[in-house]
Amino acid sequence: MKMWSGRFRRPLNPEFEEWQRSFPFDKRLLPLEIAASRAHARALAGIGVLSAPELKSLLAALQHIQHALETDPHFLADCEAEDVHHFLERRLSELAGDAGLKLHAGRSRNEQIATDLRLFVRGAIDELQNALIEFVQAFLEKAAETGSNAMPAHTHLQAAEPVLVAHWLLTYAEMLLRDHSRLGDCRERLNFCPLGSGAVAGATLPLDRKAMAAELGFTAPTANSIDATSDRDFAIEFVQATSLLGIHLSRWAEEMILFSTREFGFVRLPETYSTGSSAMPQKMNPDALELIRGKSGRLTGAATTLLMVAKGLPLAYNKDLQETQEPVFDAADTSLKCVKTATGVLRDCAFDFARMGAASECGFMNAMAAATYLAGKGVPFRTAHECIGKAVSVCLDRGCELADLKLEELKQFSPAFDQDFYSAVTLDAVLGCHDVPGGTAPARVRAALQNLEQRVRALQEALHAHA
Ligand code: ARG
Repeated sequence: MKMWSGRFRRPLNPEFEEWQRSFPFDKRLLPLEIAASRAHARALAGIGVLSAPELKSLLAALQHIQHALETDPHFLADCEAEDVHHFLERRLSELAGDAGLKLHAGRSRNEQIATDLRLFVRGAIDELQNALIEFVQAFLEKAAETGSNAMPAHTHLQAAEPVLVAHWLLTYAEMLLRDHSRLGDCRERLNFCPLGSGAVAGATLPLDRKAMAAELGFTAPTANSIDATSDRDFAIEFVQATSLLGIHLSRWAEEMILFSTREFGFVRLPETYSTGSSAMPQKMNPDALELIRGKSGRLTGAATTLLMVAKGLPLAYNKDLQETQEPVFDAADTSLKCVKTATGVLRDCAFDFARMGAASECGFMNAMAAATYLAGKGVPFRTAHECIGKAVSVCLDRGCELADLKLEELKQFSPAFDQDFYSAVTLDAVLGCHDVPGGTAPARVRAALQNLEQRVRALQEALHAHA
């Protein structure tokens, strides 16, 4: 039996019937539908709509369904179920008879899907946040291993100034912790329970909404039934947060791909996450990273889809909202898989510190430090900049570095040059002069690493307190 056939005199067009079903994808919401139905059944019993024995048999049937779902791979094969709500009602009526059919009293699928989807997104956020913490930890461990090794930092993709490898790695830890926090914001805002909102105007029975919300771990019931049944902000926010995470992952993947090329040679990617070429025997291609970069497009696509579906929808529930489910599922699966894969790649990759160090000591990456040296001798920075620029120009002609120029030669550019210039432009000196909070001086980077370790520990403790 359908959930709504009474007023219809003609059957649905069979192709339309098949096409409008959401069960093929919303079946994954079944555990959440079961949990929400348990809460609703208790609320019905609380106001006497279900007798104590009816409640007992319904709860037993829900338990049975949960068990079958976990153990029977064919349990979800039901080509008549319109959606997950219909599926559950069909199974309940088989198992609990009339008690099963009583369960829909005082509720609507509009509040049910809003509740199930919120629970789904909440669970997806928890999983993704855990995976992000693991990924951040991998960055922190790698950063600790890299010690005081240096690499060129780029602007405009041109080598700019040397930095500690750890400083570069910790950049990604910062980005990912922002993603973690964005997901946390979304979780906090979504954690209100639509149950008891009915189809649009509120339940037609005096259900204990607070008790239902509490049972499902929500902070409180939602405040407005029209909003509760039509709102998908939480889905949009979640998918937008994953799409920004995807952007971060794709920037990292791109750098790793670039740094693993023979031309750079900074990183050796693990064979375990690469593939070969069917044509060129020597090739090892960075597939995992390329897929991560590519899938970020998919995440942004999901966010765009959700915005377009929600745009211009009149209040409250419209069937269009069924279209918000698949992008949410896809974004949840894609983002989690990307983060886990990225963590594996990062853990198994190796840095070539010799190449990174060599690249940090050539190409005039000490030029800004050299200009600062002159400024320290009282030369106005703009003048110092000009002097060093001229010196660089001479070096370019000769194919040498600034420190290869003799003191007499340097003095022709500015009388302020002295013997101590040479020690002011070594790699260590250049790194050390960025001695501000957030800078790449080794002590600053060590402090940043400690700070990040503390932040991650605090997040983990909050997580355990939560669980
Ligand atoms: N499958 C529907 C969805 O995902 C459930 C809600 C149906 N509500 C309705 N009034 N037809 O949106």
